[in-house]
Amino acid sequence: MDLDLEGLAARAAEAILRAQGKTVAFTGAGISAESGIPTFRGKDGLWRRFRAEDLATPEAFERNPKLVWEWYRWRMEIVFRAKPNPAHLALAELERMGLLLCTITQNVDGLHQAAGQKCVVELHGNIRRARCTRCGYRVEFKEPPKEVPPKCPRCGGLLRPDVVWFGEPLPEEAWQKAVQLALSAKTLIVIGTSGIVYPAAMIPQLAKQNNATIIEINVQDTPITEIADIAIRAPASKAMQAILTEVKKQLTQ
Ligand code: APR
Repeated sequence: MDLDLEGLAARAAEAILRAQGKTVAFTGAGISAESGIPTFRGKDGLWRRFRAEDLATPEAFERNPKLVWEWYRWRMEIVFRAKPNPAHLALAELERMGLLLCTITQNVDGLHQAAGQKCVVELHGNIRRARCTRCGYRVEFKEPPKEVPPKCPRCGGLLRPDVVWFGEPLPEEAWQKAVQLALSAKTLIVIGTSGIVYPAAMIPQLAKQNNATIIEINVQDTPITEIADIAIRAPASKAMQAILTEVKKQLTQ
């Protein structure tokens, strides 16, 4: 392992142990990149190949529900094949060790739960779920729907992906819980987010206001870098494995 990663991982481990269980993770699409799920703004990101306004807005759905569902079905096929990677698994292990309180995620892929993590706050919903536009009934898909747009099994109404689209409010309960976690965190581990989509991007700033130590794991600088106490420029899997190794090492010292 190159020295600076080891050194930074050691400092991150110290911050996690110093937090005595009050560490929170805040994740974005970058943590799932190594599971084969495309990010939104990276070099081959989804918004480079598709127009968000044509696919991820209530107006787009209103205009052409079939087109929107065909795109989500394509993304669901990727998500249903995807497996948690070592970064998701390391967070779940830190939670089992009593060192990680919860993970707040902007991702809709469900990989934190698949990795065994118990406390996950989904700010932008979950692509494995749909909800009825007429009666609100929620459906959990076990596989991508054969028919699109799918119909509500209860009232026959039009189902929509249970995710937050641009211009829509975040689920109130999830947002409140995320703010409460950010304000109580002693250490916040920010993994794989470009930090530019609000209000989710407020989470690191809220934690910082509350004097939390901010650890940023990303392959490049972001607007969060300027408030990060420890900035680790490495892929999420490599960085989280290094941090977990250092935590275990420091626990035996
Ligand atoms: N390890 C760590 N970071 C990575 C990796 C990796 N292997 N690969 C990419 N990244 C970083 C990129 O450098 C970028 O900063 O992950 C970040 C991904 O940024 P985005 O694609 O903008 O994803 P995210 O920040 O989650 O987007 C927020 O925007 O489109 C909406 O609702 C969507 O939840 C999403 C929100």
